[in-house]
Amino acid sequence: MKLKKIMVIGAGQMGSGIAQVCAQAGFDVLLHDLEKDRIDRGLHAIAKNLTRQVEKNRMTESEKSAVLERLIPSMDLHDAGGVDIVIEAVVENMDVKRDIFAQLDEITPDHTILASNTSSLPITEIAAATDRPENVIGMHFMNPVPVMKLVEIIRGLATADDVYKKIEDLTKMLGKIPVEVNDFPGFVSNRILMPMINEAIYTLYEGVATKEAIDDVMKLGMNHPMGPIELADFIGLDTCLSIMEILHEGFGDDKYRPCPLLRKYVKAGWVGKKAGRGFYTYE
Ligand code: CAA
Ligand code: NAD
Repeated sequence: MKLKKIMVIGAGQMGSGIAQVCAQAGFDVLLHDLEKDRIDRGLHAIAKNLTRQVEKNRMTESEKSAVLERLIPSMDLHDAGGVDIVIEAVVENMDVKRDIFAQLDEITPDHTILASNTSSLPITEIAAATDRPENVIGMHFMNPVPVMKLVEIIRGLATADDVYKKIEDLTKMLGKIPVEVNDFPGFVSNRILMPMINEAIYTLYEGVATKEAIDDVMKLGMNHPMGPIELADFIGLDTCLSIMEILHEGFGDDKYRPCPLLRKYVKAGWVGKKAGRGFYTYE
């Protein structure tokens, strides 16, 4: 069965990036969100990225138009009835994701693969909300999706080998590099990255240095492209907090305890770049 049509659920920073790379690879893509405004913003961000490609002579104006024509907005989950693969990229919350996967199990044809872009939630538990756990898999893109090469592919306990293979092939078709990992809290990427970010926030909380100084240390001293505080804002502080909570609960070890300062910013609604304000402010 050839994968032709894709639905991306969630038109936020990740969902819009995933939709862009899928449409650029020639797939028809339904971009679904609960809010029309989020879809409009997602499509606007994609158009802006593609315009930049045209300006840099990496794409023609007609190629750009063709990519945009392959992107279809969707406000109704039942539109998933005709797709071969769904890539879910909504908020990092188990109840929300399980609810969506249970609905997709009813709506989509038997062959449809249900993939989640979750940063840290157990794929096996998401899969258990469906009657087709063999067709459920983690497809973890990195932010910003059009730029970052990695896709972490996570096997749930029941994920079938042929489903893994199809997602591995799809990853390569999107111009990305797949890395296989097993289903453990935070997988590989966030088990390593997020404690570093959390520790950077503790370093700020304890008054060791300013946020700018912490970021400079990691940029100039370790050659990181972004400092950890800036990166936390870039990822979204709500997402960072959810991931830390999942690591804390999943491993039961206090070393993963989210920093109180991180909690405070999320409670304030200062969730980072996407909200215009996090540890830094944005226009
Ligand atoms: N969407 C699309 N393209 C983007 C982009 C975006 N949001 N942001 C930057 N780019 C592109 C630019 O257009 C530019 O492309 P060209 O070279 O073709 O012109 C290129 O990226 C470089 O951008 P800039 O020159 O503006 O800026 P930069 O050199 O500082 O790079 C960056 C920006 C790529 C984001 C870089 O700062 C970086 O790599 N930061 C770290 C990103 C990272 O660690 N991501 C992983 C986060 S963790 C995660 O994703 C997993 C999770 O579950 C939380
Ligand atoms: P975001 O807040 O930018 O976007 C989430 C989108 O999901 C919003 O547009 C929201 O309206 C939509 N949504 C919420 N509930 C929905 C529902 N029931 N049905 C349809 N749409 C719904 O978040 P994001 O940063 O794009 O993260 C999305 C997912 O990707 C999360 O699971 C996150 O952990 C994961 N992820 C994030 C990053 C990152 O750096 N931000 C990296 C990799 C993976």
